[in-house]
Amino acid sequence: PSTAEGEGPGRLATTRRIIQKLKYTLLGSDELKGKKVIVTAGATREPLDPVRFITNHASGKMGFALAEAAKLKGAEVVLIAGANQLDYFEGTKSIEVATAEEMKNAVFQEYENTDILLMAAAVADYKPKYISTHKLKKTSSKFSLELQKTSDILAELGVKKDKCLHVGFALETENGVKNATKKLHAKNLDLIVLNNPLKPGAAFSSDTNIITLISKDGTVDHFPKLPKTAVANIILEKVCEMKQNNYCQTAVS
Ligand code: CTP
Repeated sequence: PSTAEGEGPGRLATTRRIIQKLKYTLLGSDELKGKKVIVTAGATREPLDPVRFITNHASGKMGFALAEAAKLKGAEVVLIAGANQLDYFEGTKSIEVATAEEMKNAVFQEYENTDILLMAAAVADYKPKYISTHKLKKTSSKFSLELQKTSDILAELGVKKDKCLHVGFALETENGVKNATKKLHAKNLDLIVLNNPLKPGAAFSSDTNIITLISKDGTVDHFPKLPKTAVANIILEKVCEMKQNNYCQTAVS
């Protein structure tokens, strides 16, 4: 039966779905039509036993905003997300991962034919060397954990990068531009998004962010405090501009 309640074709769409549809109708474009975009988001979790893990405060909000902004520009979006409390949206391939290793595998699996990689995830730099199969007991007054490095996903892909445009994030609490520029070159990035989570309005869980964009040509652009949705658009506008310039260079040569 075609009614506004229950199941069936007449069922009223959820408010979220209606808003999403309106967004696409009012704000959608085809700037990234035909382009594959991978976005990583959220925090990774590195287990030490079946009940405990090491993680960080990343909320996933920035990555999700980027994924939605790319979708609004007509891109084919693959969202690879670590821990988060957010709603996934329709029309986007979403892959949920827990550890840095799982995130690496998912990114590598999806990387072929990708035009833009946006690594907004806060990936753990270290993981416990040994994972206990049983819950660790508090048998002594002191406890040390041996950690080992995780794979640096961006750095590893930076080596095999060809036409894909790589965007990284740099969380820095001191010497921001200097450290972020170093990361940009070390990981062979095209653009790095610098932010300082200690600034009011730029915290992990905040709906706003304060960013500086540093491009591989050395351009440094500072932005004021803005909603993460607006920040996502700024990043994507920059990415589109960079893509366009690359295409121009290719066309001339
Ligand atoms: N990143 C990654 N793989 C890791 C760690 C980080 O791909 N194992 C990515 C992040 O997603 C981010 C960028 O690298 O886009 C920079 O991450 P950040 O944590 O700021 O820098 P690190 O390289 O981990 O260096 P440090 O922690 O010493 O500042």
